[in-house]
Amino acid sequence: MGFGRGKVILLGEHAVVHGCPAIAVGIERGVTAEAKPASRDLLRLSPWGLALEPDRKGDEPLERAFAAALALYPERPALEVSAQVDLPAGAGLGCSAAIGVAVLDAIDEALGIERSRTDLAEAALAWEKVFHGNPSGIDNTMSAIGGVALYRKGDALVPLRSNKPLHLVIGYSGESSSTKEMVASVRRQLESDPERVNKAFQGIEALVRNAKLAIEAGDHVALGQLLDLNHTILSSLMLCTTKLDEMCQAARKAGALGAKMTGAGGGGCMFALAAKHDQALRLRDLLGGDSFVSEVSA
Ligand code: PMV
Repeated sequence: MGFGRGKVILLGEHAVVHGCPAIAVGIERGVTAEAKPASRDLLRLSPWGLALEPDRKGDEPLERAFAAALALYPERPALEVSAQVDLPAGAGLGCSAAIGVAVLDAIDEALGIERSRTDLAEAALAWEKVFHGNPSGIDNTMSAIGGVALYRKGDALVPLRSNKPLHLVIGYSGESSSTKEMVASVRRQLESDPERVNKAFQGIEALVRNAKLAIEAGDHVALGQLLDLNHTILSSLMLCTTKLDEMCQAARKAGALGAKMTGAGGGGCMFALAAKHDQALRLRDLLGGDSFVSEVSA
């Protein structure tokens, strides 16, 4: 069975596209996939009831991504891949990357190809490029490898270690957004007002560096404050929505150590950091909807 995790960016999204470091975690929810020889290439996606054929030039990104994935295997039988998606799409949890990783992992397994999770992450970048144009690589990397890690474009992933698990509550705003459009919006702001946007990136980089130390020291109170500050900078880049702000404020008011939007923004998800598991469960009930708890060990 192929598997790709969802991911949550703790700090550093968007700045990571422009060369700054970010910290992300792989969560246990994700995508599973199975591949088997068939009479023609087909990608089935549940629970959406989609059956897609590969199409290099089509309008449907999933069909183009599937074609890009199959092109990585020049000699192979026709394959039917069935994937089960357990993540909201367009929600900042790296859903597209998790599908890509699970699909490639399933094809590898069906063809008896052995490769490391690091090589799998690299191969899945071909899939991600179809969706995001200029992906930083953080989604496919965390999806394949998991844990808690510091990521910088072009560098090897740095796993972070701590003896204290992170209790996260992930809440979905119910509004989806396009990562490609949100990344393009930041680029436009950078081009029109480089001083302001570069200052924002520098601020985010400082928060990421301090967050690394806080995670390693198990200082989740400090980490929570850094999350709140990162959320404010992302808001100043016009990436946040009223709904995401309301959810973050509600979580903080209920005692969360910190809360922020995660991923591309413009909709999608937020998360809160809880001190303990039972507090995480209370925050999940407060946020309601599709929110869920994820405990991540560094
Ligand atoms: O919203 P997601 O899960 O696609 O995360 C995107 C993260 C960005 O930093 C905004 C883009 C990227 O390629 O890193």
